[in-house]
Amino acid sequence: MAEVTMDKIVSLCKRRGFIFQSSEIYGGLNGAYDYGPLGVQLKNNIRDFWWKEMTQIHDDIVGLDASILMHPRVWEASGHVSNFSDPMVDCKQCKSRFRADQIDLKGACPTCGTKDSFTEPRNFNLMFATHIGANADASSTIYLRPETAQGIYVDFKNVVSSSRVKIPFGIAQVGKSFRNEITTKNFIFRSCEFEQMEMQWFCKPGSDEHWFSYWREQRMAFYHKMGIKPSSLRWHQHGPDELAFYAKDAYDIQFLFPMGWQELEGVHSRTDYDLTQHQTFSGKEMTYLDPESNERYIPYVVETSAGLTRNVLMALSDAYDEEELEGGDVRTVLHFHPHLAPVTVAVLPLVKKDGIAEFASKLERELRDDFSTFYDVSGAIGRRYRRMDEIGTPYCVTVDYQTLEDQTVTLRLRDSMEQVRVAISDLVATIKQATKEYKRVER
Ligand code: GAP
Repeated sequence: MAEVTMDKIVSLCKRRGFIFQSSEIYGGLNGAYDYGPLGVQLKNNIRDFWWKEMTQIHDDIVGLDASILMHPRVWEASGHVSNFSDPMVDCKQCKSRFRADQIDLKGACPTCGTKDSFTEPRNFNLMFATHIGANADASSTIYLRPETAQGIYVDFKNVVSSSRVKIPFGIAQVGKSFRNEITTKNFIFRSCEFEQMEMQWFCKPGSDEHWFSYWREQRMAFYHKMGIKPSSLRWHQHGPDELAFYAKDAYDIQFLFPMGWQELEGVHSRTDYDLTQHQTFSGKEMTYLDPESNERYIPYVVETSAGLTRNVLMALSDAYDEEELEGGDVRTVLHFHPHLAPVTVAVLPLVKKDGIAEFASKLERELRDDFSTFYDVSGAIGRRYRRMDEIGTPYCVTVDYQTLEDQTVTLRLRDSMEQVRVAISDLVATIKQATKEYKRVER
């Protein structure tokens, strides 16, 4: 198995249209990325896989889509205005800015090499501020949300009074978040504009430890189900110096990215901190009346918070492989779970002539109802298989002369490269069954 480096991933992403640097023709913008035709499909597939897991498989979770812009008091109540900051230093020589906890303050500047050039560390708030309305004064300052969670807390009472949810229940949300990150290296791992998939689980005080453990189990099982290699996933419990200001306890699911083990998702025990803060700051009651016991309380919260864009990087890093084939040829392949692959089925006519291309094109159109498809007629069949391997297409269907005679096609499986003959009438069911039974092979 070849080493997976970030350079290889970045290059594949650009070459095949997964991810581009934002505003590239202007020299690029740090910490911002564009998802190309295959990238947006991969991202949407991961989002849909998560959404289905949360709101369909767990029937006690409802969805929400809160706005990115919120009342500025939200961020005072949540603690982000006063606490959401990183200690920063600037190089007095070249003006580069660094996180104070990520460099040797007694050493030389990593950019220009000057010694003793750092300013004293200062706290730098990570929220992007902007203005709403025509007047750009202090009273019009609002923030781009740095997490989706607060939208859920602020709407807690609206959801309880408008739906039939009873505690314990969850509210799930996927959306953009923004942080003015200073260290944005490692491609899309840490960007200034990113997407989160968060779920806040509201439960009775005292039951939070049970649910905290339940959700840790569920979230790890989710990544296994997504086909991620279990050996590339592990837990990390936050030490007292790592815990966020709102957390009673927190665990990260870490993934073995090309640059090492790093956080993928956080599972946080947030107690009644957030709802209590919003009750205090808004003056509106955030309590819940238990219909069975008639008790009134502010619920405790267990949060599962995953980065969607970070999940995209994980899926690419986990799937990437360069495999040596018989004869010394090497194929680059992405072993995506079929649910995640941007293209599920490619239809390839063996030759263009004798009505084979027309037959294949018609078959591809018929498969569109069930799968995301692609039709490719150009180049030798081996090269077409390689192109599909490189974007992670799990199934290739080849139409040949025999197809015209007996209505069968060759179904080629990406991971094993096995080829089987399948009747067209069984094709959809065969692919669906193979997807259901898909198992990631650890190499
Ligand atoms: N509501 C809790 C919260 O936001 P967090 O640990 O700051 O917690 C949760 O973020 C997840 O969001 C992280 O595990 C990561 O996957 C993702 N994330 C956070 N900052 C990010 C950034 N700058 N770029 C990409 N993903 C980020």
